[in-house]
Amino acid sequence: MLLREQINTDKLPSHVAIIMDGNGRWARQRGLERIFGHQQGVKALREVIETAAELGIKYLTLYAFSNENWGRPDDEVNALMGIMVQSLNNETETLLKNNIQLKAIGDLNRLSVDVKERLNETIKVTSIGTGLNLVVALSYSSRWEITEAARRLSADVALGKLKPDSICEEVFEKYLTTYGIPDPELLIRTSGELRISNFLLWQIAYTELYYTDKLWPDFGKEDFYNAIIDFQKRERRFGKTSDQVLEK
Ligand code: IPE
Ligand code: IPE
Ligand code: MG
Repeated sequence: MLLREQINTDKLPSHVAIIMDGNGRWARQRGLERIFGHQQGVKALREVIETAAELGIKYLTLYAFSNENWGRPDDEVNALMGIMVQSLNNETETLLKNNIQLKAIGDLNRLSVDVKERLNETIKVTSIGTGLNLVVALSYSSRWEITEAARRLSADVALGKLKPDSICEEVFEKYLTTYGIPDPELLIRTSGELRISNFLLWQIAYTELYYTDKLWPDFGKEDFYNAIIDFQKRERRFGKTSDQVLEK
């Protein structure tokens, strides 16, 4: 049976998050500069976005650049930012055509003016989209996000807008950059690394994790299907017993 036919479209995860890792190694294995891996990674990106949209997934969050990635050599950071601007320029039409709306999470103030402007422009023009919500995590780190939330929440307490007693999980979440976006149900990481690397720590409390050895530039449609098929075989218990889950 074809992979696509093994997917139960009634039980799709509504939000899939991906740590797109392994571009550098992909290039090095071919004796190329790391940057070629990043360029090749854009192709995988396009294919996965298309696949998610076609399946009818509501949210796709992609970890494109972490706060820690600012510490890479300047040449690589600049090349990655260049790819970002180029992709936004090239793909905006496709996003519009496919009814996709772009969102961004992260410390966007650290981006250069041209990247920020290009990004905001694409977010604005695609905001009419009603299909896939494409969330790009850019200059993002989860500890930054949580600290920032704590800072803004305390400011509201100091101003008397919020009472400490009224702070609960739902209130705290309002201060996160992901507010309004449901938690991911499935998190995919490529390149065989078994770690989270400061991504969505709050939001993945009950997310199903899926790791693959494939390097990001080699990740395609079939790999995305495999991750979803694997996800659909899992029993999500949320602390309950298996019997309780099956009773429902
Ligand atoms: C992921 O690939 C892309 C970014 C982090 C921007 P890497 O560049 O981390 O590739 P590896 O992990 O060095 O192979
Ligand atoms: C995580 O990949 C960040 C992105 C994919 C954007 P890294 O390659 O930066 O992660 P570590 O440093 O190996 O954990
Ligand atoms: Mg990496």
